[in-house]
Formats: sequence, C-alpha cells, structure tokens
Amino acid sequence: MSADPGSRRVIDFLVQNFNLVRGLHILAVIAWMAGMLMLPRIFVYHMSAEPGSRMDAVFKQAELRILRIIINPAMILATVFGGLLILADSAIRGWGFLLQPWMLTKIAALIFLFGWHGFMAGARRKFANDQNTRSEKFWRMTNELPFIAAIIIVLSVTTKFLNH
Ligand code: HEM
Repeated sequence: MSADPGSRRVIDFLVQNFNLVRGLHILAVIAWMAGMLMLPRIFVYHMSAEPGSRMDAVFKQAELRILRIIINPAMILATVFGGLLILADSAIRGWGFLLQPWMLTKIAALIFLFGWHGFMAGARRKFANDQNTRSEKFWRMTNELPFIAAIIIVLSVTTKFLNH
C-alpha cells in the first residue's frame, strides 16, 4: 500500500525526528504517571477532612485540578506522541512490531492504565459529591498499581525482551 505524497512527507518528518517525538512521548508519560500517583495520595489526606470544612473544599479543588490540568492532558499527549511513534515505527520496520511480545505486553499494561485512569476519574467525582465508599487502606494499597504498570511498560519497551 503506497501512501499519498502528503502523508509520505508527514511520515518522513516523523522518521527523521523519531528521537524528538520519543522524548516528548516520555515527558508526557512522566506527567501522566506523576498525576496518577499523586491523586490517590490526596484522596488519603482528603478522608481525614471534615465534610463541608474548608480543608474538604481545598482537597476537592486540588483533585479537580490534578485531573483536569495534569492527568487528562498528559494522557492525551502521551497517546498522541505514542501514535506518532507507531506511524514512524511502521515506516521503519513494518507493522509487524505491533504483534511482538514486548508490544503486546505494553498494550496489556496500557489497557490497565487507561482503565485505572477512568476509575480514578470516577473516584474523584465521588469525592466531589461526598460519596467515597473506599477505605483509606484501599487508596494506600492501590497507590502503587500505576507504577507497577509503568515498570512493566518501560522495561518491555527498553529491553524488547532481548538480552543484547
Ligand atoms: C498511551 C499510549 C502509548 C502508545 C501508543 C505508545 C507507543 C510507543 C511507541 C510506538 C514507542 C516506540 C517504541 C520503539 O520503537 O522502541 C514508544 C516508546 C516508549 N514508550 Fe510508549 N506508548 C504509550 C504509552 C506509554 C506509557 C504509559 C509509558 C510508560 C509508563 C511509555 C513508555 C515508553 C518509553 C520509555 C519509550 C522509549 C523506549 C525506548 O526508546 O527504548 N509509553 N511508545
């Protein structure tokens, strides 16, 4: 399948600037992870605030901002730059890499991360409506889950399960 000249130019640009796009992808991923690790921590502190108090309002505002200003935009940017890397990679080595074990592992961990992101957004809404039903222990124990997914993703992309 041959691409039209316009998309050919875009793909050539992406291939030539692969390392730049990869760097931007990694930066967006850092922000996404930072927000996802921060939010449950805030939930833990939020639970010790009296409902309706000034601290309760401060935590609600902080939760909204972390989600709207950090987590959501960073997830979109990480996905956009990741999609551009897929386009560049497909031109460099063909589409087959998408089915290699390291990529399938990354995709599985990504499905978990997107699901966790949605779960956190739902939990934020519940906190905003004073309807959190989860315990402090739950938020403390699940806090590290996105980081475990990040370890799996980063090591599968950097090693590609090869030992050279
Ligand atoms: C959101 C959807 C995502 C897509 C579509 C995506 C896609 C990609 C692609 C195609 C590459 C280039 C792979 C290569 O040729 O070596 C890449 C690199 C990378 N990705 Fe992602 N990615 C996504 C999310 C993430 C997340 C959540 C993390 C970390 C938690 C991550 C970490 C990395 C790292 C560290 C690299 C650089 C690997 C290297 O250069 O050795 N990505 N990504």
